[in-house]
Formats: sequence, C-alpha cells, structure tokens
Amino acid sequence: MKALVTGSAGFIGSHLTDRLLAAGHEVIGFDNFSSGAPEFLEAARRCPAFRLVEGDLLDTGVLARALAGVDFVFHLAANADVRHGPEHPRKDLEHNTIATSNVLEGMRAHGVRRIVFSSTGSVYGEAEVFPTPESAPFPVQTSLYGASKLAAEGLISAYSAAYGFQAWIFRFVSILGERYTHGHVLDFYRQLRAHPDRLDVLGDGHQRKSYLYVQDCLDAILLAIEKAAEPVNILNLGAGEYCEVNDSIRWISERLGVSPELRYAGGARGWVGDSPWIFLDCSRMRALGWKPHLTIREGILRTLDFLERNPRILEKRP
Ligand SMILES: NC(=O)c1ccc[n+]([C@@H]2O[C@H](COP(=O)([O-])OP(=O)(O)OC[C@H]3O[C@@H](n4cnc5c(N)ncnc54)[C@H](O)[C@@H]3O)[C@@H](O)[C@H]2O)c1
Repeated sequence: MKALVTGSAGFIGSHLTDRLLAAGHEVIGFDNFSSGAPEFLEAARRCPAFRLVEGDLLDTGVLARALAGVDFVFHLAANADVRHGPEHPRKDLEHNTIATSNVLEGMRAHGVRRIVFSSTGSVYGEAEVFPTPESAPFPVQTSLYGASKLAAEGLISAYSAAYGFQAWIFRFVSILGERYTHGHVLDFYRQLRAHPDRLDVLGDGHQRKSYLYVQDCLDAILLAIEKAAEPVNILNLGAGEYCEVNDSIRWISERLGVSPELRYAGGARGWVGDSPWIFLDCSRMRALGWKPHLTIREGILRTLDFLERNPRILEKRP
C-alpha cells in the first residue's frame, strides 16, 4: 500500500512509519514538527520508500499534494496534550477536529477511502462501567481533548456513511515506550532527576490508570486493518490491567534507586479532565487474536530505559 501517516514524526506515528516501511509499504510522512522530532525519522529517511512532507494539516493545499496517489491514511497527528487544553481552547478544535475534517475532505477529493484514526479513552469522560466497553454510554465530556476527538470520530463515521469510507477508530489508553515525550512517566522522571528527594504528585496518587506499550498498540492496529471488516470499526486499545499512580511511582523510584518524599496536591483528579479511573474493555480487539505482550510495569521500565539513553527528551517543554 501507499500510506500517508500524519503525525509521522511523533511518538506513535514514527514507530508506525517504521513498522509500515519494514512491512514493505510505501510511506509518506506528514508532520508540522510542533511536537514531533526529526531524529525519530532517522531510520525512515534512510529508506527509499519513505518521503517526508513538512506541513500543517490546516494547510489544505500541502495536504492535497501529499495525498496524491495514496490509498490508505493513518491519521495520528493531533494535539495530544490533554492536561493543558483549557489554556488554549482553540488548539484541540483546530488540530484535532478541523485537521481531521481537512484530512477527510482531502481523501474524498483524491478517492482515498481507508482511514485509521487515533482516538482516545478520554472520550468516555468519567466512565461508569469498568472495564469500559466501546458501547458504554459517554454523555458528558470532561476534556477539550476528548471532546475534539469525539467530534473527529463523528466526522469519520459520517464520511463512511456518506462516501463509503472504511474506518478503524482506536480508543487508546496512555501509550508508553521508546520515543515517549509526554505524560506522567516523563513528569516524574524529570522531577526525580532534578531533585531525587521529593516528588510532587497531582491528585492523591490513587488514580487508577491503564497503559499500553507502543509496539503492542501497533500490533493491534496492523492486525485490525487486516481482520476487522466493518465499514466503521471502533476498537478500544489498552492493557488487561490497571495500576494506581502510586504503583508507578514505586516502580520508577525503585528503578532510579531513589526514595522521594511524596507531596500530593490532593483530590481525586490530577487536572481538569483527568479521569480517576481508566480501564478499557478490549475484548473486541482480543477477539481478533491480539493481546499485549508487556505488562504496565514492563512498559514503564522500557520507557525509563529510553529516557535514560535520551536525556535530550528532558529539554522538551514540560
Ligand atoms: N500517547 C498517548 O498516550 C496517546 C493516547 C491516546 C491517543 N493518542 C493519540 O495518538 C496520536 C499520536 O500521539 P503521540 O503520543 O504520538 O503524540 P505526538 O505529539 O508525539 O505526535 C503527534 C504528531 O503530530 C504532529 N502534529 C500535530 N498537529 C499537527 C498538524 N496540525 N499538522 C501536522 N502535524 C501535526 C506533531 O508534530 C507530532 O509529530 C494522537 O492523535 C494522540 O491524540 C495518544
């Protein structure tokens, strides 16, 4: 296939790019480098089947040129930061919802009909059913990020109905692993490297979270596009377990050999839109023959190993 990967310089998108190239596909990477890193594409750039288009999805002209000849779109570009959403309310709308609308319109114009979309478990807001299945009700959105992704999901399924697109919409938990550049493991690692004797923790530490290792996430995506054949396939992606924030603090502290004083901000939530319990029912994905290989603890330790080997990541904006 000739695939367009939006967000190809990002954490997950760069791994997806590498996996598609390794499987013999042609890949056009598309990224504006707002949070992506050129070095994540080092291996891809050495491959003749890869071409990079540096551009913004809000620029429909560049996007249209990138879509020429493509037969599959993996749309991962987004503002992936949930926590700071309320500081810039248009960012999620523009980079998540309008950007998705632009991708869909570009696909329609070029006759591209297959799309993978990276959505999020945040669309369930504060779920009431655990583990949370794809069919769970989610009437109230709690983050601008989740709301913008849910709106994008809606557009994708409407394009499927109107124009015969086939879509695979994945609702991820938090993803961990090599090239990880944002999230709680980085926050804790950054703090403990700066001052090993203390750690500021948002919330009360009892938030229950699920995580998934990036290659397990990609195994699922690549399997689902082969096996899930509905016009719109909505699939949760997460580990079959969850942990408390306090568990991850313990694993990180043990690995770094520190015993920090824990200073909790208090309350059940870390920030506006932080869900106190995330645990997705992934039986739909498992029925396709997928299962994750790494536990949450193993995923966290791999992430720490990557951060140890790549201190430059700490220079990125918290
Ligand atoms: N990492 C997670 O834990 C997680 C969890 C759930 C969902 N997701 C989703 O998965 C996708 C990838 O996340 P990630 O963690 O790799 O994030 P990331 O920030 O590392 O990657 C996003 C990439 O998109 C690019 N980008 C952003 N806006 C763009 C625009 N308007 N035009 C062109 N490029 C643009 C960025 O430069 C970056 O390279 C996102 O859609 C995110 O919402 C991620």
